[in-house]
Amino acid sequence: MAVNLLLGLQWGDEGKGKIVDVLTSDYDIIARFQGGPNAGHTLIFDGYKHVLHTIPSGIFHKTAVNVVGNGVVIDPVIFKRELDNLSQFDIDFTSKLLISRKAHLILPTHRLLDAASETAKGKAKIGSTLKGIGPTYMDKTGRNGLRVGDLEMEDWNTRYDALTKKHLKMLDFHGIELEYDLDELQKEFNEGVKRLKELTFIDSEEYLNNAMKNGKSILAEGAQGSLLDVDFGTYPFVTSSNTTAAGACTGLGIAPNKIGDVFGIFKAYVTRVGSGPFPTELFDEDGARMAKVGHEFGATTGRPRRCGWLDIVALKYAVQVNGVTQLMMMKGDVLSGFDTLKVCTSYKYKGKEISHFPFNIEPENVTPIYSEFKGWSEDLTKMTSKEELPQNLLDYIAFIEKEVEVPIKIVSVGPDRKQTILR
Ligand code: GDP
Ligand code: IMO
Ligand code: MG
Repeated sequence: MAVNLLLGLQWGDEGKGKIVDVLTSDYDIIARFQGGPNAGHTLIFDGYKHVLHTIPSGIFHKTAVNVVGNGVVIDPVIFKRELDNLSQFDIDFTSKLLISRKAHLILPTHRLLDAASETAKGKAKIGSTLKGIGPTYMDKTGRNGLRVGDLEMEDWNTRYDALTKKHLKMLDFHGIELEYDLDELQKEFNEGVKRLKELTFIDSEEYLNNAMKNGKSILAEGAQGSLLDVDFGTYPFVTSSNTTAAGACTGLGIAPNKIGDVFGIFKAYVTRVGSGPFPTELFDEDGARMAKVGHEFGATTGRPRRCGWLDIVALKYAVQVNGVTQLMMMKGDVLSGFDTLKVCTSYKYKGKEISHFPFNIEPENVTPIYSEFKGWSEDLTKMTSKEELPQNLLDYIAFIEKEVEVPIKIVSVGPDRKQTILR
């Protein structure tokens, strides 16, 4: 069976966690393929709200197996906390949560290096979540990293000590004063490692390919969004992994010809947290209203998210890079009550009108050109069928579908699992 992918098409926080949870009943296996605890995926059902960081969003379904793939970076400290937070649920983690031996580990000193690097950058900082993501992926590509499988090796302690020592020298080099208690951090890390080792480690590429041969259905869950991809995002204001479809192949060991549907998720407007250009960003009361009604605060860091109008230029770009076959539009309910909605359909780039996503989208080069739409006043949050959706929303959807040339199959009208309309 083919593997379907689900990924974010904007700057993250599109609602991936919610939709993975909604779709999980159709799948045997949910597999995360990149990112780490920089992600915050929110699930709301039965009056509970959960934010998952490293654990795949299929964990609440009894039958699904959840795999943390080789492309993910794991912080044992945060991982243990996530597991502890789920203790009220009757989840058999040993059989339902499998960890790739090839996933890289975030050490306490990776987090310190992240903080030092951001401080050193000053105003030019990325706005990292400070979870150690950049330094861990740097050690991965620099061939210095430590992986989950190394925890099973006899020389683990020696290798951990050597890498930590190296990191401490790098911290000296940065010359940034950071306050930390290394002994305390290592104690916490060792407790996390102990808990992690109680889970089942697998050769995940072998496991997933065998599962496919045996007819099991797999949904690959992305983290972050396409505009944060290290190659295709708004570099350098990106994360350190490939968040796009290709990342699922390298992050799980799945061949490109095994990919089936690619589900692309986007908000009916746009948000971004952290630094970096954002052509349709609003600094007025419309933006403030989106932030307020949409509760736009980071699920991982609590930082306020920047808000702006939907950007079709960026959306088309993300759809193209990912080969999206179905779209899912989230948070249309947040736009209820706006008289007029704007959608960016092209950019003025260095004086010329263009309709593709250019190399540089800094404000000095790019001005968005907008089309306007009539808003809808109806409250969408109680609607349960596509027949109830207001005509102005249907017009908005039809315009996006025409521009992007991919159908919108799910319209999400609220954060709860149940507030999901299939088309
Ligand atoms: P993820 O990182 O892509 O999983 O998204 P986050 O969980 O970081 O952010 C999405 C936020 O929007 C969460 O607070 C969700 O509960 C919420 N959410 C998801 N879908 C909808 C929707 O259709 N309407 C509203 N109002 N909120 C939604
Ligand atoms: P989910 O999976 C939104 C952003 C950070 C920062 C940049 C680099 O919940 O959609 P990093 O910690 O990776 O070095 O930060 O990327 N960022 C996210 N923004 N959602 C996320 O994940 C993000 N993960 C990282 O804010 O701008
Ligand atoms: Mg999030």
